[in-house]
Amino acid sequence: MKQTILKITGNTPLTDSVWKMTLEDPELEEQKPGQFVNIRLGGLFLRRPISVCDSEPGKLTILYKTVGKGTEQMTRLRPGEELDVLTGLGNGYDLSKAGENPLLLGGGVGVPPLYMLARKLREQGKAAAAVLGFNTAGEVFGEEAFRALGCSVTVTTADGSYGTKGFVTDALPEGYSYFYTCGPEPMLKAVYRKTNTSGQFSFEERMGCGFGACMGCSCRTVTGYKRICREGPVLEKEELIWED
Ligand SMILES: Cc1cc2nc3c(=O)[nH]c(=O)nc-3n(C[C@H](O)[C@H](O)[C@H](O)COP(=O)(O)OP(=O)(O)OC[C@H]3O[C@@H](n4cnc5c(N)ncnc54)[C@H](O)[C@@H]3O)c2cc1C
Ligand code: FES
Repeated sequence: MKQTILKITGNTPLTDSVWKMTLEDPELEEQKPGQFVNIRLGGLFLRRPISVCDSEPGKLTILYKTVGKGTEQMTRLRPGEELDVLTGLGNGYDLSKAGENPLLLGGGVGVPPLYMLARKLREQGKAAAAVLGFNTAGEVFGEEAFRALGCSVTVTTADGSYGTKGFVTDALPEGYSYFYTCGPEPMLKAVYRKTNTSGQFSFEERMGCGFGACMGCSCRTVTGYKRICREGPVLEKEELIWED
């Protein structure tokens, strides 16, 4: 974990509620796919965790949905302003298990962390397929970006207003080697039940401190309790225990 001051170089809406922000600093190290950053915002005690959407040395891209005080404050920030950001948080996805044709399943703001993962998998020559799920047509983002990487992409909307009607689990392709997923918990539970290979889940649960001190994010696994912020946010399918 590293505390850094990053300069905002872009902050624009992609949909009515999802924004893309780019942050830069010459000292910034490349983040791993599936890691997250924790952002300090004026007047708010807790930092706000946001997944790394893309990263290269010196530059970081995040996509965030406006749901409350913190993310609304972020929409008012302008290029040239600076943000206090904890970087290098979380374990990230393990790419070594992908096999030759991995499947990426993202729901809503669970889509952004899969972008850098898809880019890295494509750079390794993997035939990555992505299924991106949203509630309705107006919320869809990322389709073209994943296609531009050379992924085969299916978009689902719950109301059928765009792409395949239903949830990501209604559009699972045949014959994938492994899966990576991120999204709301009901979606993750459905992915757990309906997938027939091993895979990795990234949990975007609500967090407290964000760096392992408060236990506010702990969840039960087959090897004991794990803190989503520290030992996660990525957990393997085989270690999960779903609490009802
Ligand atoms: C590891 C991790 C990665 C994340 N990555 C992303 C990302 O890439 N893009 C993104 O848009 N969001 C992401 N989130 C969620 C994001 O952190 C919250 O949406 C944000 O902190 C809300 O802050 P706020 O001040 O705007 O809302 P608040 O004022 O704190 O809350 C407003 C409303 O949103 C609900 N809410 C807040 N946090 C969450 C949450 N984590 N899950 C579900 N509901 C929540 C609250 O219950 C409340 O109803 C991530 C969360 C975690 C833990
Ligand atoms: S958020 Fe405090 S331990 Fe994870």
